[in-house]
Amino acid sequence: AGDRASRPQPWWRARVEALRDIAAARGTPAYVYDLGTVRERARALRGIGAVSRWHYAIKANPHPAILRALETEGFDFECVSPGEVDAVREALPGLDPQRILFTPTMAGDDEFADALAQGLRVTFDCVEAVRALADGRHGGRSIAVRLDIGPGRGQHAHVRTGHDSKFGLPLADLPAFVEAAQAAGLVIDTLHAHLGSGVFDAGHWREVGLQLASLAERLPTVTTLNPGGGLGVPYLPGEPALDLGALGAGLDELRAAYPRLTLAMEPGRYLVAEAGVLLARVSRIKRKGRHVYVGCDAGMHTLLRPALYEAWHPVVNLDRPDAPRTMRADVVGPVCESADNLALDRRLPADTAVGDVLLVDIAGAYGAVMASDYNRRGRPLEIVLDGGAA
Ligand code: LLP
Repeated sequence: AGDRASRPQPWWRARVEALRDIAAARGTPAYVYDLGTVRERARALRGIGAVSRWHYAIKANPHPAILRALETEGFDFECVSPGEVDAVREALPGLDPQRILFTPTMAGDDEFADALAQGLRVTFDCVEAVRALADGRHGGRSIAVRLDIGPGRGQHAHVRTGHDSKFGLPLADLPAFVEAAQAAGLVIDTLHAHLGSGVFDAGHWREVGLQLASLAERLPTVTTLNPGGGLGVPYLPGEPALDLGALGAGLDELRAAYPRLTLAMEPGRYLVAEAGVLLARVSRIKRKGRHVYVGCDAGMHTLLRPALYEAWHPVVNLDRPDAPRTMRADVVGPVCESADNLALDRRLPADTAVGDVLLVDIAGAYGAVMASDYNRRGRPLEIVLDGGAA
């Protein structure tokens, strides 16, 4: 618990010189990930003893070095597409397919059948997909069902996945789902719900778990509850961090109330967001109307979150880290769109100049993986630091 002031300094504060060297030697825009921070977050989560199985939601950052580091920390993986499954298999050849949880959305029958044939764990969220397996070719296999148990949660409408979204099986359809699974010889061993991303209420996963547990009472084959991911990471200065101790205590209560059931979770952002920064170089400074536009070589094609969700990321001028920040500026990119911004109405050093390196913080989750080659500006580099080595 506690606010940002009481949290440790970000890892890169001790590495400003090294990051400037990386920008000079390798070019920009570049994402830089610190594996030590990923491992530290992984260990903090593994300290929550009530959870027996952790799946890393690789959509947040599928870089192979991160997948390997998290496997070493005892994490399994959650994948939303066949491409993500391939990414895990390429990074970790020989991985037991049961350590990959496949939770697609709106997937066709072939995609489900293929995932089962590969031996993956599979989450379903519609009756028709299970009916398509009625010939019993996967009889005896265990499956999970993703339920829509309530209103969505999270930091922006685009990341809320409850009622009024395409996600999850409506509870009214659960009896039909159970019947279709029985007819196909499939065993429902897991009840799952993920209501959104960027949740700071530490009691949230206990509440979701309790709802799932009460549904499990009528489903004797269920052994596992998965109350999703969505663990929030503070982006704004002073924003309180998620209280992992309280989260764990809530899940302990849940386990004590339902000793028959084990818990799984599937965080993405929490493990990687603070481990990554984006380096960009200032290309143009333009004064127009009331605005100072600081243009750089990273934009919405590099980090889409500000344009798509009005997300707020800290920005620091690495060439002037200690200068007073007296210039009010909009940090924008080189893409031909008015939404092409990284940071609006910020304070930067007044002598910020073309050629300076800017650092965009907390960029390790949903950063590089959401980048595009729009305007043919190219995709960013990704550089991994492990201890001192790049
Ligand atoms: N499980 C399921 C079923 C999910 O849909 C997601 C995220 C996660 C786990 C992991 O959520 P996390 O722990 O990372 O919050 N691009 C957006 C976030 C989209 C999240 C999509 N689903 C962003 O940049 O904020």
